[in-house]
Amino acid sequence: QTPAPTPQYRPAYHFAPAAHWMNDPNGMVYLNGTYHLFFQYYPDGMSWGPMHWGHATSRDLLRWQEQPIALYPDKLGYIFSGSAVVDENNTAGFGKNALVAIFTHHDPEEEKKKTGKHETQSLAYSLDEGKTWTKYAGNPVLKNPGIPDFRDPKVSWNAQARKWIMTLATKDRITFYSSPNLKDWTKESEFGEQVGAHGGVWECPDLFPLTLDKKTYWVLLVNLNPGGPNGGSATQYFVGQFDGKTFRPQTNTTKWADYGPDEYAGVTFANTGNRCLFLGWMSNWDYAQQVPTAPWRSAMTLPRELGLRQVGKELYLTSAPVKEVASMVTSSRIRPLTNFNAGKASAAAQPLTDLAVKGEIDLLQQMQTQWRPQSRLQLRARQLQDMTLVLSNAQGEELLIGFDKKANQYFIDRSKAGPSGFSPKFAARHVAPRLSSAPAADLTLFFDAASVELFADGGLTAMTEIFFPSAPFTSLRLRPTPGLTLDSVEYTWLLTPTK
Ligand code: FRU
Repeated sequence: QTPAPTPQYRPAYHFAPAAHWMNDPNGMVYLNGTYHLFFQYYPDGMSWGPMHWGHATSRDLLRWQEQPIALYPDKLGYIFSGSAVVDENNTAGFGKNALVAIFTHHDPEEEKKKTGKHETQSLAYSLDEGKTWTKYAGNPVLKNPGIPDFRDPKVSWNAQARKWIMTLATKDRITFYSSPNLKDWTKESEFGEQVGAHGGVWECPDLFPLTLDKKTYWVLLVNLNPGGPNGGSATQYFVGQFDGKTFRPQTNTTKWADYGPDEYAGVTFANTGNRCLFLGWMSNWDYAQQVPTAPWRSAMTLPRELGLRQVGKELYLTSAPVKEVASMVTSSRIRPLTNFNAGKASAAAQPLTDLAVKGEIDLLQQMQTQWRPQSRLQLRARQLQDMTLVLSNAQGEELLIGFDKKANQYFIDRSKAGPSGFSPKFAARHVAPRLSSAPAADLTLFFDAASVELFADGGLTAMTEIFFPSAPFTSLRLRPTPGLTLDSVEYTWLLTPTK
């Protein structure tokens, strides 16, 4: 039977299909003013099934228009995850500037035979900007040597090697292949058997350069399921060097692009010039097929611009919501509070300090505004101490977001944020390390109907979490501790991008 529709959980500025099941983002590419997002899609049900590539387009990364399905399963199997490139020099011979998709064919019949050869890599191309696709007659272009998990090719042009490089997830490691024409592939090297997190299978990798202080580094993203820092699926990464053949990490530290439970299979867009734009699936394999939404399941994260930052000896990724989000912010809706000190009274802080004595501040009342499901909350702390933001409704459900000084962790606790009987793995408190050691901190939270994305310390820590309250939240309170000094708190209603 079909469950009742849940429009209250439909995101306003995150992509979700109108109906049915979605998982990984695929083939993300920018072409002639349009961002293309393809995605793992099962158009006949609300749980995972024979995979297609769904398709959506946007000119600003926020307003997405769902398009007809791009790729259907065929006699070589289901269409699993992969990437897309713009073949500027017609290396493959499909046409100048052809859009070429490189994806995994997953053959369920071959899988039953247990030969370990059921996943192969194939091509499809489009000569009309992604509207219609032709599968290459010579598929598959990369056969399987007998590795049961052999998938999710991410291909990009490597200027140094003057070849295409394919970064492929091969069970417990990454295998790099090269090709002059996208059709003939040569194995170059393997990485990762001995490093990184290995609590599950390696999937959906990505390899791209980023510069810091005029020096170029290579970032290798490796999605992992299960084995994430808060359980289930998550995105780890390594920073190092890639010489066109081999990847060498700078250190063996395990790092996570997003520490929350609900960012997975995140990879970057192709053909975006100097911008490195990342987007992930906003769910977790632990419960994705059980979440209480209908008639669709799953949304994507906000697109994020990635950068690098050095902390001590380590290089970390930073993530920031793309600058296009500014188009949703109305200055008239910004409600700031400034100079708040949770211990001492000061002239500027006087009215707030009085409230702090009671141990809790009603932020919405202070800012004379109301809660909106689509909103942004920004806190600037001069002195970061224990604090908890409490988002709640009349039913007494609460979502807690904050910082634990002793543990040096940010946290999001959704254990009481709504009914969670659909999965025993859902209700929990999740934590993320604070990587910055500065006393001052900035914290930005983006809320949509059923999700929050936290970006702290200039994006050094990112954390994504979904939630399903039984009634909308209406109250936002702050539980400070003495010593917490906030320079400002800003609450902004976000305008829904118009179609
Ligand atoms: C990751 C993943 C990929 C695979 C796809 C199948 O979520 O398991 O490895 O290609 O989903 O839908």
